[in-house]
Amino acid sequence: MRDVIVACDFSSAEQVLSFLDKFAACPRKPFVKIGMELYYAAGPQIVREIKARGHKIFLDLKLHDIPNTVRKTMQVLSALDVDMTNVHAAGTIEMMKAALEGLTREDGSRPLLIAVTQLTSTSQERMEKDLLIKEPIGDVIAHYAANAQEAGLDGVVCSPLEASIVKERCGKDFVAVTPGIRFADAAADDQVRITTPARAREIGSDFIVVGRPVTAAADPVAAYQRCVAEFLG
Ligand code: C5P
Repeated sequence: MRDVIVACDFSSAEQVLSFLDKFAACPRKPFVKIGMELYYAAGPQIVREIKARGHKIFLDLKLHDIPNTVRKTMQVLSALDVDMTNVHAAGTIEMMKAALEGLTREDGSRPLLIAVTQLTSTSQERMEKDLLIKEPIGDVIAHYAANAQEAGLDGVVCSPLEASIVKERCGKDFVAVTPGIRFADAAADDQVRITTPARAREIGSDFIVVGRPVTAAADPVAAYQRCVAEFLG
């Protein structure tokens, strides 16, 4: 189940499809993350099109709304037949349960459903001042992960450095999806808490999410293959 997910943060269907064309001769088709930027620009049709090309898809829309709205939205998204999607754990256990219900098809099948705990862009200071959450951020992440598990979700998105906290609290089978991946010899961009694909494997990540190190590489296929080699070993 472990895999490298390529974050296709493009703002049009043309851009993402011409990027994916580069992988036509690659024996392994990348697992693709479609986020809000591309989804809001190109709509559900781009999901169907990338799926039809044989890619697995993580639809990263981070739902956070009242339980009834999330349930009905997940019902709509389940028809897109993606492989993974997500919600914010801050929406509460009830909301996460509603998401799971909506996503589950009549035959019982469903995509993996994971929760965002605290965004990696949220610091301890902002969490305390803006959100009035006073506990240490590691405890908050572990608690949100436990809530996601109680709601029946499959795992969480977290920084690779938090994956071990999550595994300790929820067990090794609870999925950790980790962005913030950089090659040892590359720039960090705007990511702060980063690690290499090999280190992410050691820490226990199940899926790494890699954006610019692949999408902005001179040779994206070679960069992707390097991630796969380092992460999957
Ligand atoms: O280009 P880069 O490798 O930094 O892209 C990382 C991807 O993972 C982006 O799509 C970003 O939105 C996403 N992400 C993240 N940190 C989180 C959650 C998602 O970097 N906590």
